[in-house]
Amino acid sequence: MRPRGQADNLLLFLAFFWRNPTWTRLRLGFPVHLKQPKHMLDDRPQPEVVYVERIAPGGDGLGRLPQGELVFIKAAAPGDQIEVGNVTRRKGIAHGEIRSVLQSGPERIEPICPITSSCGGCNLMHLSLEGQRQAKFEILDDAFRRVGGGLPLPEKIEFVRLGDGLAYRSRLRLHVDRNGRVGFLSPRSKQVVPVERCLVAEPLLNTALAGLAVLSDEARRLLQLCDQLELRASELEPRLIARLIPKPKVSLQARHFVSLFPPDTRVVVEGSVDDAQVLQHYHLPDDVLLSVPACAFTQINQGINVSLVRDLVKAVKLRSLHSFVDAYAGSGNFTLPLLAADLVGESIDCAAAGILAARSVARDRGLPFDGFQVGDAKVLLESFVRARRRFDLVLLDPPRHGAKDVLPVALRLQPQCIAIVACDPVSLARDVASLVAAGGTIEQLTVYDMFPQTHHMEVLAIVEMPVGSAP
Ligand SMILES: C[S@@+](CC[C@H](N)C(=O)[O-])C[C@H]1O[C@@H](n2cnc3c(N)ncnc32)[C@H](O)[C@@H]1O
Repeated sequence: MRPRGQADNLLLFLAFFWRNPTWTRLRLGFPVHLKQPKHMLDDRPQPEVVYVERIAPGGDGLGRLPQGELVFIKAAAPGDQIEVGNVTRRKGIAHGEIRSVLQSGPERIEPICPITSSCGGCNLMHLSLEGQRQAKFEILDDAFRRVGGGLPLPEKIEFVRLGDGLAYRSRLRLHVDRNGRVGFLSPRSKQVVPVERCLVAEPLLNTALAGLAVLSDEARRLLQLCDQLELRASELEPRLIARLIPKPKVSLQARHFVSLFPPDTRVVVEGSVDDAQVLQHYHLPDDVLLSVPACAFTQINQGINVSLVRDLVKAVKLRSLHSFVDAYAGSGNFTLPLLAADLVGESIDCAAAGILAARSVARDRGLPFDGFQVGDAKVLLESFVRARRRFDLVLLDPPRHGAKDVLPVALRLQPQCIAIVACDPVSLARDVASLVAAGGTIEQLTVYDMFPQTHHMEVLAIVEMPVGSAP
């Protein structure tokens, strides 16, 4: 090899400047305008300093801009002093982004998940568990003040939590991107954030996620036929169900996907016969074994669910209630333990698969099994009113929007007690307020930390109704 001469060095020097124009301009003293990504562009020249007062119902921190306007800030902690930039307005409400944390609030911690800011699932991971507990009480309080017509919260509200708030999720809903990678949807966008490990998911779900992260190109092409994918874990066989949700107009064969998942995974396709017939089993109090079809609703935090079910049965026994109607029964999560506790009742759900599974469990265990009905809660409760039936307990565990339309009918069944299990504090506050307006008394309000690291919670409200309170 010939030694490098002066001409070679000059050429290398020029090539470096050619390939690094920004560096060259800086070295030569010329001004440099660094391009900012579009989403970082600010409509205000300077970041504004904001003190974060509390966590708002959606999980954002809430503070005031220097002019006094309320601003919602993602990943902000109560007590934070922060510089906020990129303030935008949606429907007249200001949203900002943290530019820097000048002073941390007392419960701010470093989130342990590396993708928490992009995936958006664990929107309170920057708060300690105690900070999350406080935030959830504030969210509940806020709902009761704003929507519950100023209804005061009971003096004693229990908060039930288990463990360290990690590895609790037994069910994950994943999205598939155009390259066949799976992940969560980033907040307020349709972009899939690939996930190889989710710290709040049960270990078996993470085994499946790790496998999906290293699929061959061929397997990825197969996955591209799916819009979404649900992973459902249980302690008992089948321990893992992979539920494929196909893209529109695509028909899938489960057997083609089996090799994509850990051994012994049951793969089912949404809407198939197996979707309604493949069951997973969960332990409930009093040795009840819940059987949940792949297509049916199941609570995602099994440990907390056991506490919730146990507390409800305890509250019912304490009041010596004898009959019940469970209007949003799913697969019998509450119905079966209530029957096992010697109550008699009716169990309603609009989804047939869950009700049929619950009925089989009741029959096999020697419990009454003629009270399971598939249908709309309001329609069936109205039929009970027409038949002049009465129940000591009406139990309502509705979807997020709550039980507003069903409550007037529920009252006509003249229950001693109405128990509401709610995942949305705003719907809960509205529904409980209407029961209180009908003469009810809130006897118990318990917050279950069903979804640690997020602003979500499950609340059990037990409202006692006076005799003859029906409208
Ligand atoms: C939050 S889940 C609760 C299920 C069950 N209580 C549990 O703990 O697993 C709500 C249930 O309400 C059912 N549902 C939704 N709308 C309904 C309606 N209009 N009438 C009856 N059931 C309904 C859903 O199928 C679902 O099973």
